Amino acid sequence: MCGIVAYTGNQPAKEILIEGLKRLEYRGYDSSGIFIQNSPPYLARAVGKVAELERRVWNSAPDGVAGIAHTRWATHGKPTEANAHPHTDCGDKLFLVHNGIIENYLVLKKRLLEAGHRFKSETDTEVLVHLIEAGYQGDLPAAVQKALLQVQGTFGIAVMHCDHPGSIVVARRGSPIVLGIGESASLAASDVSALAQHTDQVVYLEDNEIACLEPGNFSITTLDNRSVNRGTTNLEYDVESMDRGSFPHYMLKEIFEQPEAVENALRGRLNHAEAVAKLGGLESVQERLLQARHLIIVSCGTSFYAGLFGRYVFETLTDLTVETELASEFRYRKLNLRQGTVVLAISQSGETADTLAALREAKRKGALVLGLVNVVGSTIARETHAGVYSHAGIEVGVASTKSFLSQITILTLMALLIGRSRDLSYEEGHEIILALERVPEQIREILKQAEHIRQLAVKYCHAEHFLFIGRKYQYPIALEGALKLKEIAYIHSEGYAAGEMKHGPIALIDPKFPTLALALEDGSYERIVSNIQEIHAREGHILAITTEGNTTLGDLADDLIYIPRTHEAVAPLLSVVPLQLFAYYCGVLLGRDVDKPRNLAKSVTVE
Ligand code: M6R
Repeated sequence: MCGIVAYTGNQPAKEILIEGLKRLEYRGYDSSGIFIQNSPPYLARAVGKVAELERRVWNSAPDGVAGIAHTRWATHGKPTEANAHPHTDCGDKLFLVHNGIIENYLVLKKRLLEAGHRFKSETDTEVLVHLIEAGYQGDLPAAVQKALLQVQGTFGIAVMHCDHPGSIVVARRGSPIVLGIGESASLAASDVSALAQHTDQVVYLEDNEIACLEPGNFSITTLDNRSVNRGTTNLEYDVESMDRGSFPHYMLKEIFEQPEAVENALRGRLNHAEAVAKLGGLESVQERLLQARHLIIVSCGTSFYAGLFGRYVFETLTDLTVETELASEFRYRKLNLRQGTVVLAISQSGETADTLAALREAKRKGALVLGLVNVVGSTIARETHAGVYSHAGIEVGVASTKSFLSQITILTLMALLIGRSRDLSYEEGHEIILALERVPEQIREILKQAEHIRQLAVKYCHAEHFLFIGRKYQYPIALEGALKLKEIAYIHSEGYAAGEMKHGPIALIDPKFPTLALALEDGSYERIVSNIQEIHAREGHILAITTEGNTTLGDLADDLIYIPRTHEAVAPLLSVVPLQLFAYYCGVLLGRDVDKPRNLAKSVTVE
């Protein structure tokens, strides 16, 4: 949440900073701001998307060669110009951008007010700039350090002072900061997407570290003054994939990239001869993994639904006992991690604050902690004992689509790997492998139905409420389908295990409350048909996803979408695709900003 970018070099900073903000906009987009070191100093802030700031800055900003910028996801204080970053001190000499939450800001603010500081915003962030001002005696890093030692909470910050031309001080605790070091320029940002077009040499700052940037140079110390000797690492990043190409939205592009996302997730990871998966990232912990008895999967949002899918697939293919838990709950539970417990954190961004806190808690308690992460080098990827990258490629749309597909593909591979070392037979393993290999082509077939699904969205997008039901493997998909429709189209939708209908939700059913039923011809088919009958009997409209060749649902469902037949455990990789398209088209038809839905951010780095 919130995106930070900082630049010091020999080029005009404004283009680099605005371009960087656009790449970070997925992190928050209710307001933004920029500071450019110049005489006089230049500060501009605007409410709304980065394009608003760009309009304002374009003709008025000077060609100064150093500056900092920020795109905000509001926590404390509404999205107004005054609350937008950068924030300034009383003397208008210090400029600061922040990502995170200062938990003790009220106490600090009271003290600063008593000392005569004047506040201009309602944010928690502003205390930081006044604290630095209070401690400043000519040495900027020392003042930043002193201020941060008084702070409780999380921060990724970048600070500049008018008396220190070309110097930027950055620091982190809990919110990511990565440095990019070029020959004659240095940058810092919340993630590498804002740096990659300028340099491939990066340095990941760790918690409680502070770095000083000069053009082409950097130094790092810890907040308690130990110097840190860390070199740059080589960044591999495909800048081109940030392009929308001919697609009207990133979300649609990313839905259409799913056949390749699955191919990439499978590439080099299948061993036909032994009907097993090869996951290089887990080799270092293979012994412990093969002895594991219990698996706890922790994650949030869509990644949580991937985890729920994981529970079914691990239970089917292995003898592990499996729990899935929302990371935000897990982190505060009284944990009794039995011997042989493995905790698996799933996260697209690798920065989700709750998931990170959950894995730290599990690590503290001695569990083997694994990650399933998309963003290479992200904090979760670095803090787990071992893990697997999902290789979905950059996902820009705020709604997770292709990263979900990659996650559930890799969960299947992990289950196959463990299962084959226990009682899963060669035949069963091989069946899964063959089914997985067919998935990319089968998704391409489903994508050909995009126009049919758009027509269904025309029919249903004005519904005020929607129910999504599924059983077993399709239950997490029902939850995910409902989440997509909520976040993209702002239609109230509920995902339910179909068997729960008669325990309450069926009371809602009437002709204005449609249901999307995941009714595939699998082991649960007869049971979900009974649930559909019950809805039909109460005049509820039904849109069903079913298996190609199905002939029995025609009389019950108002509308049907067919997907290819496959193994029950692999079917979610197909059935989720029409649900994503349905949510996308409903959102577009209702005029929503599908790539940046209101109130959301892609990377949720606050609790
Ligand atoms: O980056 P993560 O996978 O950890 O993010 C978790 C959730 O914030 C994320 O899945 C969110 O629910 C998406 N907006 C769903 O589309």
